[in-house]
Amino acid sequence: MPAKVDMDKIVSLCKRRGFVFPSSEIYGGLASCWDYGPVGVELKRNVKEAWWKVMVHERDDVVGLDTSIMMHPGVWAASGHIDSFTDPLVECKSCHLRWRADAIEGEKCPKCGGELTEPRMFNLMFKTSMGPVEEEASTVYLRPETAQGIFVNFENVVTTSRKKLPLGIGQIGKSFRNEITPGNFIFRTREFEHMELEYFVKPGTDEKWLDYWVKERFDWYVRLGVKKENLRLRQHGKDELAHYAKDCYDVEYLFPMGWSELEGIANRGDFDLTQHAKCSGKELSYRDAEAGEKYVPYVIEPSAGVDRSVLAFLVDAYEEEEVEGEKRTVLHLHHSLAPIKVAVLPLSRNEKLTPLAKEVFKRLCPSFVTDYDDSQSIGRRYRRQDEIGTPFCVTIDFESLEDKQVTIRERDSLAQIRVPIEGLEKVIEAKFKGEAFDASTLWATRQK
Ligand code: GAP
Repeated sequence: MPAKVDMDKIVSLCKRRGFVFPSSEIYGGLASCWDYGPVGVELKRNVKEAWWKVMVHERDDVVGLDTSIMMHPGVWAASGHIDSFTDPLVECKSCHLRWRADAIEGEKCPKCGGELTEPRMFNLMFKTSMGPVEEEASTVYLRPETAQGIFVNFENVVTTSRKKLPLGIGQIGKSFRNEITPGNFIFRTREFEHMELEYFVKPGTDEKWLDYWVKERFDWYVRLGVKKENLRLRQHGKDELAHYAKDCYDVEYLFPMGWSELEGIANRGDFDLTQHAKCSGKELSYRDAEAGEKYVPYVIEPSAGVDRSVLAFLVDAYEEEEVEGEKRTVLHLHHSLAPIKVAVLPLSRNEKLTPLAKEVFKRLCPSFVTDYDDSQSIGRRYRRQDEIGTPFCVTIDFESLEDKQVTIRERDSLAQIRVPIEGLEKVIEAKFKGEAFDASTLWATRQK
């Protein structure tokens, strides 16, 4: 079953409305690098906040962390990334394009049909040098996952947070991978953001906690509006497990190019803490004073990509429909993810309407991310707000000058209600909390 929207339409909407631009565009762009525009940055922040809220703030068994991108090179030797974080690479002898050997069919170059070299293992970590001297001793790596910053701080966090196990440590931050074949817009890039939780548990309880987190993470996407039929779980086969994993499930999403990984939830066992203890010489175990036990915890790791989640939310929310004979493109984003919550739209740019419309804008600003727009026709402005997923538009017309009331238009149903300006923010607040958008008592242009 193909996804309902082509990737081209998503890329074009993102460019047209300011979600995502090609990086360094005026210089011709840089392959697989993207910049988030004014509404894109809001969407991305909302995705991260939605994750942090349920994964860190709403739990008493999880704390947050923010570690550095560059770490001691010993970290990557211990974690296995120097030896094992590789993909098999083949190069075309004619056009010199490089491919991931496990991602192509046949033995010829998919681009020109040329002969391919034998596969060689290619390390995906970006190297750079620290300090003024460019020599081997100063080589450092840009982290390919945020997880290692958490493992090496395990002792610091347990001591300072005074928490007992099970204990989770969450982190959101940039990761870098020199992917051989990046692509599909922001799905696979060389620079991206991770949202990772390392959940430390007593050995023997790990399978139970893996099941728990697989369900939690699947449900997180559903609660944020992703259609259940576009999500599925897939357990990794033994031959595809990462070098550190005992078991792993992917939450997959039906992207425009087909079912693909959205998030991985892995049972990392005690691999990382044991490795870091061995290589650093520091003991990394947990002492349970009450039970009189000491052990190296196992780790369950839900690891999601911010950018990949943003793409899934965009694809899932996208709809083209016909309204009164006209085509409308709309993003049915969950209101907590919508970049702009309310748009204030005076019917026209008019010296009588502007002061009242500005007053309404000022009134709403402290409570909601609010946009003010008085250029072009009202129809075009509604269309723009629909395309960026704004849940509510507030329109100020000439009657508003008399009755001090405004019209609120709801994005999905297109129903409209007329309400007093006094207390407007409370009405909108109630709608965000789920109060019905009851147009029947006032007036409605259309109801689904
Ligand atoms: N610490 C475990 C880990 O990093 P992973 O399966 O390699 O596991 C987890 O990555 C998630 O990070 C993926 O499910 C995906 O959402 C995101 N991700 C990984 N590589 C990415 C890339 N090159 N571009 C965008 N997102 C990526």
